[in-house]
Formats: sequence, structure tokens, C-alpha cells
Amino acid sequence: RIKRLSKAMGNYPDQDYTVTDDKQLLDDEIGQLITGFQELCNRLDKTQQDLDQTMQQAFYSEKMASLGQLTAGIAHEINNPLGGLLNCVKTMQEEPENLELHNRYVPLLDKGLKRIEHIMRQLLNFGRKANLTFSKVDIDEIIRECFELLEYRLKKITLNLDLNLSESYCIDVEALRQIIINTGLNAIQAMPEGGSLTVSTKQTYARIVITITDTGTGIEPEIMHKIFDPFFTTKEVGEGTGLGLAVTYSLLQQMGGSIEVESEPGKGTVFTIMLPASPKPAEAARGRISEAEGEH
Ligand SMILES: Nc1ncnc2c1ncn2[C@@H]1O[C@H](COP(=O)(O)OP(=O)(O)O)[C@@H](O)[C@H]1O
Ligand SMILES: [Mg+2]
Repeated sequence: RIKRLSKAMGNYPDQDYTVTDDKQLLDDEIGQLITGFQELCNRLDKTQQDLDQTMQQAFYSEKMASLGQLTAGIAHEINNPLGGLLNCVKTMQEEPENLELHNRYVPLLDKGLKRIEHIMRQLLNFGRKANLTFSKVDIDEIIRECFELLEYRLKKITLNLDLNLSESYCIDVEALRQIIINTGLNAIQAMPEGGSLTVSTKQTYARIVITITDTGTGIEPEIMHKIFDPFFTTKEVGEGTGLGLAVTYSLLQQMGGSIEVESEPGKGTVFTIMLPASPKPAEAARGRISEAEGEH
């Protein structure tokens, strides 16, 4: 019986841990020990259940809190251009013959609508779950292309590209572009008086490491924990929506990657992006499915 008890103890909680169902074997001191063990297991199970439930509740309220924050943010971001748009339309309706006014207002309408479209696109990406498509690409080349797009914003900023990935990697190109543009643009915006922006890539073991280093304003420690929150921004309306890093974080999570930040106020900031060096497309897809199933 002692042997059986000891085996059952070893089995708890993953395998069968019943010692015996035979009541006659539980009468003496060893029997009491066995009963004690079984009661202990029951109490442990109960505690574990309570813990799981508490964790689920905590997870749920956390989710509701971020949902509330997200909705408030969307309302604010859409309301801003919307007010202007409605005003434009109202004035145009009041003066249907005034061509000069119409010519002046149509570009404003266009700009406002584009802004809403931009916010919506970012939001869709933020919630995007199931449609990452992996293909073999030259990451260094994608990064070069992204900074060609951003070139007109560089002005007094010196750009250094230190790109060392010689192979192609299996990755979602659109997601990668967005990650690079978001972090690259942030770095540029952090250096209004100029500075240097260094982007480096390398492979260390099974990881691709991309760093984006700027010599800009840096990030104050007090706001560091908020920068990945949706709609958190320190920028003027029109300059930032506060979605860039939230989208980046969400995309990286879906790709099995991660992002870290180090910053010294007044000196600059380094964002380090890590990606698995070659997630096989099939594996990546399985990861997404199990993730999607876990959501309710
Ligand atoms: N490279 C950087 N240097 C300084 N601050 C940064 C940098 N990147 C991000 N931040 C801070 O994080 C905030 C959130 O960034 P982001 O999510 O891209 O939103 P947005 O750029 O629209 O404000 C920024 O408003 C800024 O305060
Ligand atoms: Mg940004």
C-alpha cells in the first residue's frame, strides 16, 4: 500500500492518483494516511479551480478595460475630422452656387476622409488575426524600400543602414513593412532638429534582430509603460494617432516575435525587434489557429 501511495503521489496531478477504492484497506494508520492524501488532493484541486476562475476574471476585466480605452480612442480620433467634414458640407449646402468655396472645401473633405480611412486601416490591422501570409523575402531589401518611402521626411537626419541578412526569410511582407514604417517614422518624428537614425539587421541563432536607433528626444520613464497602448500619443492631432506601436506590437505577437525598447531622455531611443528566423509557413498557420480558438 505504501508503494501504491508513493506512486499516486508521484502521479498527482497529471496522471491517475487514486490509491485504492477498497474501503477495507483504509482502516488502519496507513489507511488514514491514504485518506489524508486523497483529501489533500481534493483541496488542492479546489484551490486550483478557484485560481483558474480568478485568473479568467482578471483576464476578462483587463480585456474590457482595453476595449473601453480603444472605443474611447476611436470615437475621439474619428470625431475630430468628422466635425470639420460636417461643417464643410453644411456651408457648401448653404451656398450651392459658390464654386470658389466648393473648390476650397473639396480638398479639405478629401483630407478629412483620408484621415478617417487611415485610422480605420490601422485599426483593422490592430485587430487583424487570421490573414498573415508568409512568403520568402529579402528583409534587408524591404527595409531599404521602407526608408526610400520615408526619405522625404528625413531633412536634417542622417540615415545609416547596417543591413547584414544575407538570406531570404519566411515572413508576412505587409506586416514587416508596417512595423518598419511605424518605428522608423517614430524615430524621425523624435528628431525634429535632426540627428542620426541607424537601422541594423543581423541573425543571431534562430532569431532575426532588427534595431532602430535614434538620437532624438528619448522617452520619459513615466510614460514608458504606456507607449504600446492603443491611442497613447504625445503628438499633436494630425501628427500621431497613437496606434503605431500598438499595431506593431500586435503584429509581432502574431508573427511569434517581440519588441523591446531602451531610451534615455534627451539622448535617444533604441527599439529592438526580434523575429523567428524561419517560421515554416505551416507552423505559423497552426499557431494562428490555436490562438484564434483560444479567443471568445
Ligand atoms: N523613437 C521614439 N522616440 C521618442 N518617443 C517615442 C519613440 N517612439 C515612440 N515614442 C513615444 O511613444 C508614443 C506612441 O507611439 P505610436 O504608438 O507610434 O503613436 P504616435 O506616433 O502616433 O504618437 C509616441 O507618441 C511617443 O511619445
Ligand atoms: Mg507613431
